[in-house]
Formats: sequence, structure tokens, C-alpha cells
Amino acid sequence: MLLFIAFWLLVSLIAFWILLEPVTKVLHTLWEIIIQIYDKKPVDLRTKFGEWAVVTGSTDGIGKAYAKELAIRNMNLILISRNLEKLKSTKQEILLINPKIEIKVIAADFTEGENAFLKIRPQLQDISIGILVNNVGKQYEYPMYVGEVPEMELWDIINVNVGATTLMTRLVIGQMQERRRGAIVNVSSGSEFQPLPLMTVYAATKAYVKNFSDALRAEYSRYGITIHHLSPLFVNTKMNAFSHRLQISSVFVPDATTYARNAIAILGKMDSSTGYWAHSIQKFITLMPPVWFRTRIGQMINENLRQEYFQQKEQKKLL
Ligand SMILES: NC(=O)c1ccc[n+]([C@@H]2O[C@H](COP(=O)([O-])OP(=O)(O)OC[C@H]3O[C@@H](n4cnc5c(N)ncnc54)[C@H](OP(=O)(O)O)[C@@H]3O)[C@@H](O)[C@H]2O)c1
Repeated sequence: MLLFIAFWLLVSLIAFWILLEPVTKVLHTLWEIIIQIYDKKPVDLRTKFGEWAVVTGSTDGIGKAYAKELAIRNMNLILISRNLEKLKSTKQEILLINPKIEIKVIAADFTEGENAFLKIRPQLQDISIGILVNNVGKQYEYPMYVGEVPEMELWDIINVNVGATTLMTRLVIGQMQERRRGAIVNVSSGSEFQPLPLMTVYAATKAYVKNFSDALRAEYSRYGITIHHLSPLFVNTKMNAFSHRLQISSVFVPDATTYARNAIAILGKMDSSTGYWAHSIQKFITLMPPVWFRTRIGQMINENLRQEYFQQKEQKKLL
């Protein structure tokens, strides 16, 4: 009898451990949806984290929209992108929204690795950074097989998606630790949910960003630092110019402003989220099937987007 009880206890324990991970994921995603729809109470970012925010990749898309949302919340800004003219016009655009804040711009290209940091480091030295938004990211021009991606483009993807996020974090984490407050927002992607053929390297770099964020949180949350991980699904930005369908905003493919407005609303409330309620519903459904099945579906979707890109290219040639 004792042996029988011990056997079933062991079976229950094993079943519990096997189910713990998927059940926690599903419950977390449900919680994500609920918080995003119902918790509308704003967090005072300036008081909670500090007066200055740095946003990488801030002259377009999600980065620019997120910088505008920070400006609305009275955060002073440091904008980093490659093009000085675009940076200056973005600065003017944001000052129209809130003329009371200070804005500095830094032109730096993260594909240059350490060279970019030689420009950034001295300019951040004497500023207390409250929020770092590691937004900059690079994707393939269109869904491709790894052997088709130009070698230089692979270096750029790794330097931008992995290098910039890691080294920008390294640059500010020490001062945040000393002040015992601050937030680091790491923009990853829904492509990290499982391996993603035809966007293989991009998705793998985003899985890095997720693991980096989770481990960083374990290291630094005890110092009062918030590590906020965002994994958006498709957002209507120029990054997805390879697909005409993804250039039309809808509830599941929001424009950058809608995305950023939702994403910033949960900063300080949740460690990790898609950042947008409709994406969290998609995530909830996506995470149900096993990884091998999702990988196959992801491959089919990307094959389809690839065909769309070739068709678009042919049509342009005919015009
Ligand atoms: N759009 C989506 O569907 C989607 C989905 C999931 C995740 N994401 C992630 O969200 C983040 C933002 O994406 P997005 O769609 O907003 O991109 P985007 O519209 O292409 O904007 C990219 C921004 O980064 C700057 N930038 C690009 N390369 C740079 C470099 N080498 N050095 C410095 N700045 C650089 C660009 O400005 P300049 O060209 O002036 O330098 C621009 O301001 C990325 O991390 C991306 O992976 C996007």
C-alpha cells in the first residue's frame, strides 16, 4: 500500500513539474491581457525612475512614438539614431508636444560596434539616466534563408540587436545601481516565442534579448532597477516594408503610436509583456500548440510573406 501511494505521489510530482511551465505561461499571458485592458492608473515615470530617458532608434517607428510618450510624461530625452538631420527634426517635433523638456541628440550607428560607443559614452557621462529604452533593431530586408542573407547584414543584425542592447545596458546600469532606481526597457519581438525559419537570425537575436532581460532582472531588481521586456508582434512600421499587408494598420497590426501608448502604460506595472492587449491575445493563442508546430506555422507564414515580397518587386518593375 505504501509503495502504491509513493508511486502515485511521484507520478503527480512529475506531472506537476511538466505542467508548471506551460500553465504559468498561459496564466501570465492572461494576466497581461487583464492588466492592459483594466489597469489604466498612470505611473509617474519621472518620480519613480528619474528625469532623463535615453531612446535608441528614435527617429522612426516604435522608438520615435515611445519617445513622444515619454515627452508627454515630462521626461527629458536623449535620442540616438544614425542620421543627425532626422534627429534634429524629431527633436523639434517632440518639443512641439512638450516645450518644457530638454532634448539632446546623438548621431551614432550601432552597426559600428565600439565606434558607436566612443560617440555615446562621453555624452551620457554626466547625466543621471532614469530610463533606457533599448529599442533599436534590425530585421532582414525580407524573409530569407540564412545562406541568402548578405554576410554584412548578419553582422549588422547581431551588432544592433544584441550588441547595442547589451552595451547600452552596461553603460547605464552602474549609475542606476548607485542611485538604486531606474528602468531598462528592452524591445524584443514575438519572433522570440519559438524558432522562426526565414527570419532565423533576427528571431534568435530577440530570444537573446528575452534571456538577457530575465537574467538581468534576477541580478539587478534587488537594487530597485526595473527590467521591462517588451515582445511586440507586427506593428505597422517601415521595418515591415517587405509586405504590403503589414503596411495597413488594424487592431492586430497597430501603428507605432497606438503600440507605444499601450506599451508605456504598463511600464512599472509588469516585468514582461507584448506591450499591447491585442498582441497579448495573439500571444495567448500562439503559445497553446507545441513549439515544433509553431515553428512550422511560422515557416509557412514567412514563406507566404516572402512570395508577397517577390510579387511586390515584380509589380514595381512593371510600373
Ligand atoms: N515593427 C514591427 O513589426 C516589430 C515587431 C516586433 C519587434 N519590433 C522591434 O521594435 C524595435 C523598433 O522597430 P521599428 O519597427 O520601430 O523599426 P524602424 O521603424 O525600422 O525604426 C528603426 C529606428 O532605428 C534607427 N536605426 C536603424 N538602424 C540603426 C543603427 N544601425 N544605429 C542607430 N540607429 C538605427 C532608425 O533611424 P535612422 O535610420 O535614422 O538611423 C529608426 O529610428 C526593433 O527592435 C524591432 O526589432 C518591431
